[in-house]
Amino acid sequence: MGASLLSSPAFLVFFSFFTLGLLPGPVLGITRHYKFDIKLHNVTRLCNTKSIVSVNGQFPGPRIVAREGDQLLIKVVNHVSNNISIHWHGIRQLRSGWADGPAYVTQCPVQTGQSYVYNFTIVGQRGTLFWHAHISWLRATVYGPLVILPKRGVPYPFPKPYKEVPIIFGEWFNADPEAVISQALQTGGGPNVSDAYTINGLPGPLYNCSAKDTFKLNVKPGKTYLLRLINAALNDELFFSIANHTLTVVDVDAIYVKPFETETLLITPGQTTNVLLKTKPSYPSATFFMTARPYVTGQGTFDNSTVAGILEYESPSNSFHSSIKMLPLFKPILPALNDTSFATNFASKLRSLASAQYPANVPRKVDKHFFFTVGLGTSACQQNQTCQGPNGTKFAASVNNVSFTMPTTALLQAHFFGQSNGVYTPDFPINPIIPFNYTGTPANNTMVSNGTKVVVLPFNTSVELIMQDTSILGAESHPLHLHGFNFFVVGQGFGNFDPNKDPANFNLVDPIERNTVGVPSGGWVAIRFLADNPGVWFMHCHLEVHTSWGLKMAWIVLDGKLPNQKLLPPPADLPKC
Ligand code: C2O
Repeated sequence: MGASLLSSPAFLVFFSFFTLGLLPGPVLGITRHYKFDIKLHNVTRLCNTKSIVSVNGQFPGPRIVAREGDQLLIKVVNHVSNNISIHWHGIRQLRSGWADGPAYVTQCPVQTGQSYVYNFTIVGQRGTLFWHAHISWLRATVYGPLVILPKRGVPYPFPKPYKEVPIIFGEWFNADPEAVISQALQTGGGPNVSDAYTINGLPGPLYNCSAKDTFKLNVKPGKTYLLRLINAALNDELFFSIANHTLTVVDVDAIYVKPFETETLLITPGQTTNVLLKTKPSYPSATFFMTARPYVTGQGTFDNSTVAGILEYESPSNSFHSSIKMLPLFKPILPALNDTSFATNFASKLRSLASAQYPANVPRKVDKHFFFTVGLGTSACQQNQTCQGPNGTKFAASVNNVSFTMPTTALLQAHFFGQSNGVYTPDFPINPIIPFNYTGTPANNTMVSNGTKVVVLPFNTSVELIMQDTSILGAESHPLHLHGFNFFVVGQGFGNFDPNKDPANFNLVDPIERNTVGVPSGGWVAIRFLADNPGVWFMHCHLEVHTSWGLKMAWIVLDGKLPNQKLLPPPADLPKC
């Protein structure tokens, strides 16, 4: 099972204390130490050599492998001129919000020459997550897998795979991604799109000058492989398929699901999906493409290209390298770029395992109801400037028409030390201030308002949140990510949410539990979570351009009464702004 991962060279390099898998394991987790040196690294893709911000000179970055219950101590040392912070996407961070990572939310960024040790324990999670930079667009190149194995001796709730393989999707820009977003924010127009999608950093043979940079999965016949799929792309939801092979989905966002088979899956930025790949019973006389390309619902331009990797069977007799050239190559057929019915259908198949061992603890009663519109809008162009957004404005994005203004000091410090004055206000609207036909013909006024507003929740509040897409600048699917919690997706639908009719159809039995959900294009999604984790928790669209435009907000969860219901004090090395 984990043997192949735990003994991978990357793992050995970064793992410092214990011998691997040889000692009888303690029931409690162990402490694992990693060091992340943020430094520049030359990478060539599509015949274009660039110096990218990297972790340890690796692209994609190093793989973190741990078990449920382990403590992670990751020392991040910043050797580049950019400020940086790292987010452990999907980790619950129970009482350890100081280690969550979003810049100016839970911490000031790590400045040039400085370091910070992220210190957290993995509680009640197993599966695949990932880590990424959480400031500006640095996550374009600063990302890597975070693999959480079950506790020692605890099996998967599915047949033990022969091997496990992380497959992380990314987006490659020939230009500097930081220049791309800063130019877009200045002009108010949409940012330039990426030049390629990547699988484990490799664009593959469908791009010019790229055939040698192709991800290859070499397999044996008659085996089961666990593919740990991660979408780390900046701005694109992706369809993925392997030609002539069926995939069994077993886990999403580090939560086991009721297994189901599919030829194709959809994965939004911020989501992870574990699938079992059963190889053909005997050596097939063919090789197979695995491909990914975007699911697009918005109006803007996008990268309309396809990344391909190759599934190769090792022949028992010949070495596959000599024989492969002769074999026919099969290619998967992916859904149309705007196939929303595929997206809906796929989402409806995802159900929590909801077993005795892995129950779905869906909040039954709701203490507080929230209704948030999510979508694009515009903001005014400065005088003497010509802006490239709609009708000479600037693109903006908002939640309940509030486009979030990043503070210049971190929200969590301000909250913890009782110094919110001038940093944030606790008046985030719980409903749209002016209700309208969210998915109808848009009104003339598309302007957003601005502010650093948060929702404050008492400890253990049970929350129901409806997220409603708007058609203000055209309907569009938005993958919303919540830090600090998993939530249950209890319902979704198209058009405007109807509070009188729709709740009757909510699934409170086995809804999918996850940390990132696609708000359907022209529709709504209902989630529930229990606010049992004190701290400041960012929520935002995981399409990075929308985050840049302001589609983000934060929840503050207050301490509970008991000692173990309180946020721990900040570590001594917490960066200063
Ligand atoms: Cu993966 Cu706040 O993000």
